[in-house]
Amino acid sequence: MKKPIRVAVTGAAGQIGYSLLFRIANGDLFGPDQPVALNLIEIEPGLEPLKGVVMELEDCAFPLLKDIVQTSDLDVGFKDVDWALLVGSVPRKAGMERKDLLDINGKIFTGQGQAIDRNASPNCRTLVVGNPCNTNCLIAMSQAKRIPKENWFAMTRLDENRAKSQLADKAGVHNSDVTNLAIWGNHSATQYPDFTNAKINGAAVTDKIADQEWLQGEFISTVQQRGAAIIKARGASSAASAANAAIDTVRSLVTPTAEGDWHSVGVCSDGSYGIPEGLIYSFPIRTVEDGKWEVVQGLEIDAFSKGKIDATTAELEEERDAVSGLLG
Ligand code: NAI
Repeated sequence: MKKPIRVAVTGAAGQIGYSLLFRIANGDLFGPDQPVALNLIEIEPGLEPLKGVVMELEDCAFPLLKDIVQTSDLDVGFKDVDWALLVGSVPRKAGMERKDLLDINGKIFTGQGQAIDRNASPNCRTLVVGNPCNTNCLIAMSQAKRIPKENWFAMTRLDENRAKSQLADKAGVHNSDVTNLAIWGNHSATQYPDFTNAKINGAAVTDKIADQEWLQGEFISTVQQRGAAIIKARGASSAASAANAAIDTVRSLVTPTAEGDWHSVGVCSDGSYGIPEGLIYSFPIRTVEDGKWEVVQGLEIDAFSKGKIDATTAELEEERDAVSGLLG
């Protein structure tokens, strides 16, 4: 039997955790032949609800789920993990400035980065979901010098999926007909869903959707504000779609990308497209093979795109500067 892949999930008793864990245990991350083990990490108050979630996992009798660890001790939680999905974080509350949010979460991700460095498998890959995810990822990565920089990711896949759905709806096609959709930059309201390089059934989006005003205006703002719209309608933030996007991200990183296509995920910038080196920045990414990815090169960036990319870059530089004291 194959050795189980050990996956740590922080914030395991939260909303996203409740959607995510059952899908991992069901084989949605690594396929139907790959056993998994779950290391579930919570803060102390989350341990009691976590017990209930674990009872439910047990009650599913998933054939692929070989072991479950429940803990608030980071050294136990990240021991020998192959993947770390960092979902738990402190949400922004009314009256809280972004700087306060960065400070509070900065401390959490400093400790988690160090614990990953001490305990995880040497080739552990980490996907940060908890917001502000790009900068949280930057902080954790900076504290874990033993782990290669190529192994750190921040989630922008939900934005990509949202953008594809919006374009498909507008063009009257299925969302699977929309490809090559890159999110540039930060997972925040400055993110840029790049419709100029996206395709619908292999043709430029602009050939299929003539309404430039919609593309440059409502399309982008709908994607950027989708999270807020869901909170308004549901009374709670997106959780199942966020968990789904985390699954999509990992699957896309362990599976070679289809010829000619790409996917979006925040990675450590190597300076491509003039983005400052070292920022955790969402690019169009191609996975060459499990464990090896590259930034898609040579895409045309028109003046409109450049303005949007510059804005999200500036925001990420500001965030980096605000947490400079936490960067190891
Ligand atoms: P939630 O509040 O339902 O759950 C968060 C869980 O994390 C709680 O159980 C809490 O006890 C736990 N937690 C808090 N601090 C922790 C720590 N230091 N270590 C371990 N666990 C800790 O929140 P939800 O809805 O599950 O969202 C989680 C995060 O994901 C939020 O930051 C949210 O903003 C972010 N998010 C990111 C998205 C993306 O596209 N990158 C999309 C949607 C949500």
